[in-house]
Amino acid sequence: MTGSVPARFVLKAARRLEGEIVVPGDKSISHRAVILGAAARGTTEIRGLLRGDDVLRTLAAFRRLGVSIHDGGEIVRIEGHGLNGLREPDDVIDLGNSGTSIRLLAGLLAGRPFLSILTGDDSLRGRPMGRVVDPLRRMGARIDGRGGGNLAPLVIRGGGLRGISYVSPVASAQVKSAVLLAGLSAEGETSVTEPGLSRDHTEKMLPAFGASVRREGLKVSVEGCDRLKACSVDVPGDFSSAAFFIVGATILPGSDLTIRRVGVNPTRTGLIDILRQMGARIELESMTETGGEVVADVRVRSAPLKGVRVAPEIVPRMIDEFPVLCIAAAAAEGETAVTGASELRVKESDRIAAMTGTLRAFGVQAEDAPDGIRIHGRGGGLGGDASGRRIHSYGDHRVAMSAAIAAQAAQGGTVVEDTACVATSFPGFLDLLESAARS
Ligand code: S3P
Repeated sequence: MTGSVPARFVLKAARRLEGEIVVPGDKSISHRAVILGAAARGTTEIRGLLRGDDVLRTLAAFRRLGVSIHDGGEIVRIEGHGLNGLREPDDVIDLGNSGTSIRLLAGLLAGRPFLSILTGDDSLRGRPMGRVVDPLRRMGARIDGRGGGNLAPLVIRGGGLRGISYVSPVASAQVKSAVLLAGLSAEGETSVTEPGLSRDHTEKMLPAFGASVRREGLKVSVEGCDRLKACSVDVPGDFSSAAFFIVGATILPGSDLTIRRVGVNPTRTGLIDILRQMGARIELESMTETGGEVVADVRVRSAPLKGVRVAPEIVPRMIDEFPVLCIAAAAAEGETAVTGASELRVKESDRIAAMTGTLRAFGVQAEDAPDGIRIHGRGGGLGGDASGRRIHSYGDHRVAMSAAIAAQAAQGGTVVEDTACVATSFPGFLDLLESAARS
């Protein structure tokens, strides 16, 4: 499932980004809409669903679990029969590259009285699963996996769960959501307390499906419930996809770009706060709300940036924007330092190592640390070997797209190798970039 994204991006520098664009639907919200629609009773209608490989994996998983799903183009309809309507899958479920799919499904299936086996690609099978397996076992699920249960494939014999009060050592929406989804099948109340607030889409969406959710500070609780009711979900544009264009328009002089209908949930928009501190000109216009999610048009005009210190507290609010923040920091005047971001080591790639290597290929001095990076900005265009730069994506969609943005601000041409991974979150990225770039 690699969609139609080319195997390599051949890029030339742009002078500026201009006009109005729309980015595809939010990946996190798309997964949750499918999962809750499949767990509810009745027909859930989803508008704006992302058709990236990761979400297609979640859709395929629920088809295997006996849920009928109709993709009518503009609207995707999910015919749910409640949690009790899910059926034992007749084969291993392969979730490809998608960490959100495997961890959230592990949570949901931990409560179902049948056997499920979840796996994924080489990258996913190397990512830590103990962070969800541990609390799910405490709730009573029987889960096995390689490395004592820390690595997929995960073998889940679900059912018989009891609610727990879990204090998570990481600020992770995947961990929080896995435990809350298991909590729907558990006896009593299940709560998760996290060290910092991670994206809160699950707890925002659950009440729309009829679940009872309570929040007190960093603690969120859900009551066991097999009476979820279908509803309609309108998925806003993905802020994490918009982020590439926000940085591109900021660093390319003369740019003036508006990205329509972007989800700007405050648990996601740490990048805007940091870029503004660096001197960026970003405005949120025509703010509205849909299903508890704030949506806005994001207007970005270019501005000279200066380096900044990114404090650990803001990291959960911009965890997926780190690769492209590195490109903004590279174009800024002075030094940018990120700390408290060791989670970046266990994403689709080791993003600290991947971005240190990518920055160096663009002639930017960068030093990595176990939990972050220090970047010496060039105060303008990027460099490296202008006669023909070759960059590798590290098999990571966000590294590939960040390198493509850096290429717009560099002299000469750039080839980014191994870019099929971009299909996981943003299949139309290259066409959209070409439509907004003026040379
Ligand atoms: C996601 C949560 C984040 C994020 C990922 C999507 C989600 O992961 O990096 O891209 O949809 O819940 P963690 O929860 O592991 O931080």
